[in-house]
Amino acid sequence: MCGIVGYTGTKQAYPIILKGLKRLEYRGYDSSGVALLNNGELNVYKKKGKVAELEESLVGINLDAQIGIGHTRWATHGEPSDRNAHPHLSSNGKISMIHNGIIENYALIKQELLNKGYQFKSDTDTEVLLNFIEDIKNNNDCKLEEAIRIALKRVSGAYCILLIEEDNPDTIIAARKGSPLVIGIGKGEHFLASDASPIIEYTKEVVYVNDYELAIVKPDELILKNLGNEKVTPYITKLDMELAAIEKGGYDHFMIKEIFEQPSTIYDCLRGRLDAKEGYIKMSGIDLHTEQLLNANRIMIVACGTSWHAGLIAEYIIEELCRIPVEVEYASEFRYRNPIVNKGDVIIAISQSGETADTLVALEKAKENGAFIFGVVNAVGSSIARISNAGAYTHAGPEIGVASTKAFTGQLAVLMMMALNIAKHKGTITNDRYNQLLVELEQIPEKVDSILKNAEEIKKIAEKYKDATDFLFLGRGYNFPIALEGALKLKEISYIHAEGYPAAEMKHGPIALVDENLPVVFIATNDPYHEKIVSNMQEIKARKGKIISIITEGDKVSPTISNDYFEIPMADEIVAPILTVIPLQLLSYYVGTLKGIDVDKPRNLAKSVTVE
Ligand code: M6R
Repeated sequence: MCGIVGYTGTKQAYPIILKGLKRLEYRGYDSSGVALLNNGELNVYKKKGKVAELEESLVGINLDAQIGIGHTRWATHGEPSDRNAHPHLSSNGKISMIHNGIIENYALIKQELLNKGYQFKSDTDTEVLLNFIEDIKNNNDCKLEEAIRIALKRVSGAYCILLIEEDNPDTIIAARKGSPLVIGIGKGEHFLASDASPIIEYTKEVVYVNDYELAIVKPDELILKNLGNEKVTPYITKLDMELAAIEKGGYDHFMIKEIFEQPSTIYDCLRGRLDAKEGYIKMSGIDLHTEQLLNANRIMIVACGTSWHAGLIAEYIIEELCRIPVEVEYASEFRYRNPIVNKGDVIIAISQSGETADTLVALEKAKENGAFIFGVVNAVGSSIARISNAGAYTHAGPEIGVASTKAFTGQLAVLMMMALNIAKHKGTITNDRYNQLLVELEQIPEKVDSILKNAEEIKKIAEKYKDATDFLFLGRGYNFPIALEGALKLKEISYIHAEGYPAAEMKHGPIALVDENLPVVFIATNDPYHEKIVSNMQEIKARKGKIISIITEGDKVSPTISNDYFEIPMADEIVAPILTVIPLQLLSYYVGTLKGIDVDKPRNLAKSVTVE
């Protein structure tokens, strides 16, 4: 959470930083700000609200500077306000800092500083760390770099910080632990950011800074050091990303663009890995590590949010096809309880951003205990991708809308291929079933495309139910996690209360909620539980609930019970979740936009949850 940008070079810094902040707004949009250094004079401008509000407030001001830092905030310590916005200025006004993360022991340090007479202008942990650095610098009469190093040895928590100072007018100093930092290398200029999106149009050469590293960045020099003050050789990688991937391309929102990209993102995910005609799946991450995966006594899946839902579906599929016991864990629970993780256990980590703090720390803990980590990650080069022993990228491209859509279907595609691959190696699947499922998977992009062609039908359903105050989503088997996902999507971008349940569990409580005002969405595709779910629909109908059903084309029964229904193409139950989720993504998008909500930036949320 929070997006940070920095620039040092020969161009005007402000336009580069502003554009970068707009690209990083998905990480937080409670407030934003910039600090610019011009001829040794440090100026800070900040504003509550979205980046556009900052931009507006700065019209007509001379912002001439060739070095600067900028921040877009997701509030942790202190309410969203001008004074809590970053960048912060140190007590003597000579150093400015931005921060992504949380300083957990800030209260203790703040007390020490208060005792020394420091005063604070904000409620943030960031200002505490900044003044702590200033205090060390003054007391030790040392360089800023040295003061940062000393300070960081004392703090606990997560951070990516960028600092500029009046006395060193061409240098940005950055450091990270637990929050991401990418440095773009240009000709006589450097770009710093939370991800590559602010950098991509200027250079494709980047360095991903590692935890406990400090970067001293000048226009024509990049020095990386560890906290022990030893130099580290920067490892330069080439970005495999195009500018078009991070622009709206004519759509109103990133979310709808990303929903409509799914036929091609799923195709890209399968491409080169699956060939139904030749009857194979090739995934180097698995093929090189078959021993660990085949011999696993059990698999644990660790994830959060939508990625956790993908994990639940994977549990059903892996147990069915590979006959390996699977446990699915919320990363936030896993990391704080005392789970039994032994050498040789396999952990599948699922994450779009690859930066989710809880997932990352859970993996570090499991790795220490000897577990083998397999990452299913979308963001290339991200922390989770790098900590994994092996893995498979989802290749969905940058996902910018806060609500995860194309990354989820990419995760499902990878997990399905993974399960099929392991099952084939293990001999727990017949050749016929294997070949049938390869064909089914290969047909998915086309089927998703045919669903999207009928998006208008979902829009009509959204218009009809947009004013409901609650929704219930019900599904069975492979579609139970899709019910959870449908409810999560609706909650996050329409602010309507929604719950997902296994359809049969409905009778154990939620049925008490049913009346003529409650829309109940059934995922009732053609599978072995179809008759059972039809009975559940009857139970809701008998209590006057409004039934919206997602059904398989050709189903003659469900339409007679449903108030509204949407058909998806025929598909095997194992691959069906990649299809059934699409109308639910559309439903939440249309309800959200009809209610006038900024679906790409819904309130209180951030795309990448880099704090616990
Ligand atoms: O980047 P990750 O996949 O690790 O993120 C996990 C969740 O924060 C994420 O899926 C969140 O629930 C989304 N906003 C859901 O749309």
